[in-house]
Amino acid sequence: MSDTIAKLELNGNTYDLPVLKPTHGPDVLDIRKLYGEADVFTFDPGFTSTAACESAITYIDGDVGELLYRGYPIEQLAEKSTHLEVCYLLLYGELPTAPQLADFTQRVTRHTMVHEQMHYFFRGFRRDAHPMATMVGVVGAMAAFYHDSTDINDPWQREVAAIRMIAKLPTIAAMAYKYSVGQPFVYPKNALSYAGNFLNMCFAVPAEDYLVSPILEKAMDRIMMLHADHEQNASTSTVRLAGSSGANPFACIAAGIACLWGPAHGGANQACLEMLKEIGSVDRIPEYIAKAKDKTSGFRLMGFGHRVYKNFDPRAKVMKESADEVLELLGIHNNPLLQVAKELERIALEDEYFISKKLYPNVDFYSGIILEAMGFPTAMFTPIFAISRTVGWISQWKEMIGEKNQKIGRPRQLYIGPAKRDYVDLRHR
Ligand code: CMC
Repeated sequence: MSDTIAKLELNGNTYDLPVLKPTHGPDVLDIRKLYGEADVFTFDPGFTSTAACESAITYIDGDVGELLYRGYPIEQLAEKSTHLEVCYLLLYGELPTAPQLADFTQRVTRHTMVHEQMHYFFRGFRRDAHPMATMVGVVGAMAAFYHDSTDINDPWQREVAAIRMIAKLPTIAAMAYKYSVGQPFVYPKNALSYAGNFLNMCFAVPAEDYLVSPILEKAMDRIMMLHADHEQNASTSTVRLAGSSGANPFACIAAGIACLWGPAHGGANQACLEMLKEIGSVDRIPEYIAKAKDKTSGFRLMGFGHRVYKNFDPRAKVMKESADEVLELLGIHNNPLLQVAKELERIALEDEYFISKKLYPNVDFYSGIILEAMGFPTAMFTPIFAISRTVGWISQWKEMIGEKNQKIGRPRQLYIGPAKRDYVDLRHR
């Protein structure tokens, strides 16, 4: 029970609202009993002021631009850790010891292959299908292939489902890519790192080995780590809501992938790169800045702005460093896209519209440049985000299912439709 109580006065009555204290972040008014006691709902479309759950996984301070995974700053993890170690941290709450990490890595790599029958499932899709469409279908279909990890009430099955998804999502995304370019699927190679294996599955062909460059491998690992979790964003909330009904974990992650696809969320990396290509040259930037400010244009600068960050996205800072390293390695110095991106960033950061609305570059502003330089088509950008976010979705889903008094998510509404009325017979309408 909270020591601090907020008072709500309504229609001559006073209601006590306990004030919950988080480890970090603003206090939270506990309104769980409000409807029962006062017969009112609260109204918050877009959940801008609503904490929908308790969570001990990730914390964001949007005003200062801080992101913590289980308390550890993202900058420290990006410098010192790896994606698989971060997966362990997000899933189990602590950094692993060396034997724990070795065991976890072994468990993940032993699950990287997909059921052989899945290969035929892929062939049912059109070649020109967007890989995100393929992923929504194939990940949802995992429930049909892995029956022995769909019982959400069995902690062991939940664990196996988590490992399976972290292990198999890169394989599925790489298969979606290979299918779209008409090349044969490349099986996972467990001697490679998590990121290296993904690059190999995407770029190796039977006729020629692919030598994984350590710099590209590190950049891919960082992209994965930086996207691994982001507290209660739209796709994570989708996974939680789907999971709250007791749906199996594969169906829940498929729902998360569907939500991530939208251009306001994970689809922004593809949209951002397409926008940079459309702008094409530095001299056209002012035209696009003016368009972004014009509310009637319906155009937004992709890769700018964030619901929570009202300062530089800390992930964007790390991503920018990676972009420089990758372009240097690949000898790309005068890349026109990068020139447009850098100039756009400079102009937007000095522009009164963007300053006053606290619109800073977000993670997607730079990730697309790296992925394009690595040789990925834009359609693969969001699937790579999905691979990376899988561990966050699964950790949040496991956290929710493990709660003692877990309830189905069921928001209420402010009904503004017609008042009750009588049915009118067809001949009188
Ligand atoms: N370009 C131009 N104006 C913008 C932009 C933008 N990118 N983003 C927000 N605004 C304006 C918006 O028009 C509004 O102006 P006003 O107050 O005059 O009506 C104000 O800034 C606040 O915008 P909002 O839509 O109320 O803010 P939100 O918190 O609902 O939206 C957002 C956050 C990320 C959806 C939005 O900033 C956006 O659409 N950005 C572009 C898409 C993008 O880059 N998304 C990736 C987010 S990071 C990756 C991820 O987490 O998935």
